[in-house]
Amino acid sequence: MNVLLIAAISVDGRIAKVSDQLADWTSKEDKRFFVSKTKESGVLIMGRKTYDTIGRPLPNRLNIVMTRDFDASKNIEGLLEYTQKSPCELIADLQSRGYESVVIGGGASIYSTFLREGLVTDLYLTVESLLFGSGVSIVDDIDKIQLDLQSVEKIGEQSVLLHYKIL
Ligand SMILES: NC(=O)c1ccc[n+]([C@@H]2O[C@H](COP(=O)([O-])OP(=O)(O)OC[C@H]3O[C@@H](n4cnc5c(N)ncnc54)[C@H](OP(=O)(O)O)[C@@H]3O)[C@@H](O)[C@H]2O)c1
Repeated sequence: MNVLLIAAISVDGRIAKVSDQLADWTSKEDKRFFVSKTKESGVLIMGRKTYDTIGRPLPNRLNIVMTRDFDASKNIEGLLEYTQKSPCELIADLQSRGYESVVIGGGASIYSTFLREGLVTDLYLTVESLLFGSGVSIVDDIDKIQLDLQSVEKIGEQSVLLHYKIL
Protein backbone atom coordinates (compact mmCIF):
# COMPACT_ATOMS: atom_id res chain seq x y z
CA MET A 1 0.00 0.00 0.00
CA ASN A 2 1.34 3.44 -0.91
CA VAL A 3 0.62 5.92 1.87
CA LEU A 4 1.27 9.42 0.57
CA LEU A 5 1.60 12.34 2.96
CA ILE A 6 0.77 15.51 1.01
CA ALA A 7 1.20 19.00 2.45
CA ALA A 8 1.79 22.58 1.43
CA ILE A 9 4.27 24.27 3.72
CA SER A 10 5.71 27.71 4.24
CA VAL A 11 9.48 28.12 4.06
CA ASP A 12 9.48 27.92 7.89
CA GLY A 13 7.69 24.56 7.85
CA ARG A 14 4.18 25.66 8.82
CA ILE A 15 0.96 24.30 7.32
CA ALA A 16 -1.26 27.07 8.71
CA LYS A 17 -1.09 30.31 10.62
CA VAL A 18 -3.89 29.15 12.94
CA SER A 19 -5.50 25.72 13.30
CA ASP A 20 -9.01 26.62 12.13
CA GLN A 21 -7.76 28.27 8.93
CA LEU A 22 -8.63 26.89 5.48
CA ALA A 23 -5.47 26.18 3.46
CA ASP A 24 -6.43 28.89 0.95
CA TRP A 25 -2.96 30.48 0.86
CA THR A 26 -1.48 27.83 -1.41
CA SER A 27 -0.74 28.26 -5.11
CA LYS A 28 -3.02 27.10 -7.90
CA GLU A 29 -0.28 24.68 -8.96
CA ASP A 30 -0.29 23.06 -5.50
CA LYS A 31 -4.08 22.81 -5.52
CA ARG A 32 -3.95 21.18 -8.94
CA PHE A 33 -1.36 18.65 -7.71
CA PHE A 34 -3.43 17.86 -4.59
CA VAL A 35 -6.62 17.31 -6.59
CA SER A 36 -4.87 15.12 -9.13
CA LYS A 37 -3.09 12.91 -6.54
CA THR A 38 -6.15 12.47 -4.32
CA LYS A 39 -8.36 11.55 -7.29
CA GLU A 40 -5.73 9.16 -8.62
CA SER A 41 -5.48 7.47 -5.23
CA GLY A 42 -9.22 7.53 -4.59
CA VAL A 43 -8.96 8.08 -0.83
CA LEU A 44 -8.17 11.14 1.25
CA ILE A 45 -7.69 10.73 5.01
CA MET A 46 -7.83 13.86 7.17
CA GLY A 47 -8.36 15.01 10.72
CA ARG A 48 -11.70 16.36 11.85
CA LYS A 49 -10.33 19.91 12.23
CA THR A 50 -9.01 19.97 8.67
CA TYR A 51 -12.30 18.58 7.39
CA ASP A 52 -14.18 21.29 9.27
CA THR A 53 -12.11 24.00 7.55
CA ILE A 54 -13.17 22.55 4.16
CA GLY A 55 -16.74 21.98 5.32
CA ARG A 56 -17.77 19.45 2.65
CA PRO A 57 -16.45 16.23 1.17
CA LEU A 58 -14.25 16.68 -1.91
CA PRO A 59 -16.01 15.07 -4.89
CA ASN A 60 -14.96 11.96 -6.81
CA ARG A 61 -12.89 10.42 -4.01
CA LEU A 62 -13.55 8.82 -0.64
CA ASN A 63 -13.09 11.36 2.18
CA ILE A 64 -12.22 9.71 5.51
CA VAL A 65 -12.39 11.91 8.59
CA MET A 66 -10.60 10.76 11.74
CA THR A 67 -12.37 11.69 14.97
CA ARG A 68 -12.70 10.40 18.51
CA ASP A 69 -16.30 11.64 18.53
CA PHE A 70 -17.69 9.10 16.06
CA ASP A 71 -21.17 9.56 14.58
CA ALA A 72 -21.95 7.19 11.68
CA SER A 73 -25.12 9.12 10.81
CA LYS A 74 -22.96 11.78 9.12
CA ASN A 75 -21.48 9.24 6.67
CA ILE A 76 -22.35 9.43 2.96
CA GLU A 77 -21.91 6.12 1.12
CA GLY A 78 -18.80 6.13 -1.08
CA LEU A 79 -18.01 9.79 -0.38
CA LEU A 80 -17.66 10.55 3.34
CA GLU A 81 -16.74 8.27 6.23
CA TYR A 82 -16.05 9.34 9.80
CA THR A 83 -13.86 6.83 11.61
CA GLN A 84 -12.35 6.23 15.00
CA LYS A 85 -10.19 3.34 13.75
CA SER A 86 -6.48 3.51 14.58
CA PRO A 87 -4.19 4.42 11.65
CA CYS A 88 -3.06 0.76 11.34
CA GLU A 89 -6.63 -0.55 11.35
CA LEU A 90 -7.68 2.09 8.84
CA ILE A 91 -4.89 1.27 6.36
CA ALA A 92 -5.57 -2.47 6.73
CA ASP A 93 -9.28 -1.87 6.15
CA LEU A 94 -8.66 0.22 3.01
CA GLN A 95 -6.23 -2.39 1.70
CA SER A 96 -8.85 -5.11 2.18
CA ARG A 97 -11.29 -2.94 0.22
CA GLY A 98 -8.90 -2.95 -2.75
CA TYR A 99 -7.28 0.48 -2.46
CA GLU A 100 -3.60 0.49 -3.48
CA SER A 101 -2.82 4.06 -2.48
CA VAL A 102 -4.14 6.56 0.07
CA VAL A 103 -3.40 10.22 0.67
CA ILE A 104 -2.85 11.54 4.19
CA GLY A 105 -4.07 15.12 3.82
CA GLY A 106 -3.40 16.56 7.29
CA GLY A 107 -3.48 18.34 9.57
CA ALA A 108 -0.45 18.21 11.80
CA SER A 109 -1.90 15.71 14.27
CA ILE A 110 -2.81 13.26 11.50
CA TYR A 111 0.54 13.64 9.69
CA SER A 112 2.33 13.03 13.00
CA THR A 113 0.23 9.99 13.94
CA PHE A 114 0.79 8.21 10.63
CA LEU A 115 4.52 9.03 10.67
CA ARG A 116 4.87 7.83 14.27
CA GLU A 117 3.18 4.54 13.35
CA GLY A 118 5.63 4.05 10.46
CA LEU A 119 2.84 3.89 7.88
CA VAL A 120 3.89 6.68 5.49
CA THR A 121 5.79 5.60 2.35
CA ASP A 122 6.10 8.95 0.52
CA LEU A 123 6.01 12.66 1.32
CA TYR A 124 5.01 15.28 -1.24
CA LEU A 125 5.68 18.77 0.08
CA THR A 126 4.93 21.93 -1.84
CA VAL A 127 7.10 24.70 -0.44
CA GLU A 128 5.36 28.03 -0.97
CA SER A 129 7.34 31.28 -0.93
CA LEU A 130 6.27 32.73 2.40
CA LEU A 131 7.17 32.74 6.07
CA PHE A 132 4.42 32.49 8.66
CA GLY A 133 6.68 33.25 11.62
CA SER A 134 4.37 31.30 13.91
CA GLY A 135 1.56 28.82 13.48
CA VAL A 136 0.95 25.09 13.00
CA SER A 137 4.14 23.10 12.27
CA ILE A 138 3.78 20.28 9.77
CA VAL A 139 4.56 17.68 12.46
CA ASP A 140 5.03 17.66 16.17
CA ASP A 141 6.39 15.21 18.68
CA ILE A 142 7.90 12.65 16.32
CA ASP A 143 11.33 11.01 16.49
CA LYS A 144 13.90 11.75 13.80
CA ILE A 145 12.97 10.12 10.48
CA GLN A 146 15.48 9.83 7.63
CA LEU A 147 14.03 10.79 4.25
CA ASP A 148 15.31 9.94 0.78
CA LEU A 149 14.93 12.79 -1.73
CA GLN A 150 13.42 11.56 -5.01
CA SER A 151 12.74 14.74 -6.94
CA VAL A 152 12.62 18.53 -6.83
CA GLU A 153 10.31 20.26 -9.27
CA LYS A 154 9.50 23.92 -9.72
CA ILE A 155 5.76 23.70 -10.37
CA GLY A 156 4.98 27.41 -10.42
CA GLU A 157 6.62 30.84 -10.21
CA GLN A 158 6.74 30.63 -6.40
CA SER A 159 6.25 26.92 -5.66
CA VAL A 160 8.59 23.95 -5.40
CA LEU A 161 7.35 20.37 -5.12
CA LEU A 162 9.58 17.98 -3.14
CA HIS A 163 9.09 14.22 -3.24
CA TYR A 164 10.70 12.07 -0.54
CA LYS A 165 10.51 8.39 0.22
CA ILE A 166 10.83 7.11 3.76
CA LEU A 167 13.70 4.64 4.10
N1 LIG B 1 -1.07 23.28 4.36
C1 LIG B 1 -1.59 22.09 4.24
O1 LIG B 1 -1.24 21.32 3.34
C2 LIG B 1 -2.64 21.64 5.23
C3 LIG B 1 -3.21 20.38 5.08
C4 LIG B 1 -4.16 19.98 6.02
C5 LIG B 1 -4.49 20.81 7.07
N2 LIG B 1 -3.91 22.00 7.18
C6 LIG B 1 -4.24 22.86 8.32
O2 LIG B 1 -3.98 22.17 9.53
C7 LIG B 1 -4.83 22.73 10.53
C8 LIG B 1 -5.46 21.60 11.33
O3 LIG B 1 -4.46 20.74 11.85
P1 LIG B 1 -4.60 20.13 13.32
O4 LIG B 1 -3.40 19.30 13.59
O5 LIG B 1 -4.92 21.26 14.25
O6 LIG B 1 -5.92 19.25 13.25
P2 LIG B 1 -6.32 17.93 12.38
O7 LIG B 1 -5.15 16.98 12.37
O8 LIG B 1 -6.87 18.34 11.08
O9 LIG B 1 -7.52 17.34 13.22
C9 LIG B 1 -7.35 16.99 14.58
C10 LIG B 1 -8.54 16.16 14.97
O10 LIG B 1 -8.48 14.88 14.33
C11 LIG B 1 -8.97 13.88 15.20
N3 LIG B 1 -7.88 12.94 15.49
C12 LIG B 1 -6.56 13.21 15.59
N4 LIG B 1 -5.87 12.08 15.83
C13 LIG B 1 -6.77 11.07 15.87
C14 LIG B 1 -6.68 9.68 16.09
N5 LIG B 1 -5.52 9.06 16.32
N6 LIG B 1 -7.83 8.95 16.07
C15 LIG B 1 -9.03 9.55 15.84
N7 LIG B 1 -9.18 10.88 15.63
C16 LIG B 1 -8.06 11.62 15.66
C17 LIG B 1 -9.48 14.60 16.45
O11 LIG B 1 -10.82 14.94 16.13
P3 LIG B 1 -11.97 15.11 17.28
O12 LIG B 1 -11.62 16.36 18.01
O13 LIG B 1 -13.25 15.21 16.47
O14 LIG B 1 -11.93 13.87 18.12
C18 LIG B 1 -8.59 15.84 16.46
O15 LIG B 1 -9.15 16.92 17.19
C19 LIG B 1 -5.84 23.59 9.80
O16 LIG B 1 -5.46 24.95 9.94
C20 LIG B 1 -5.70 23.21 8.35
O17 LIG B 1 -5.98 24.25 7.43
C21 LIG B 1 -2.99 22.45 6.28
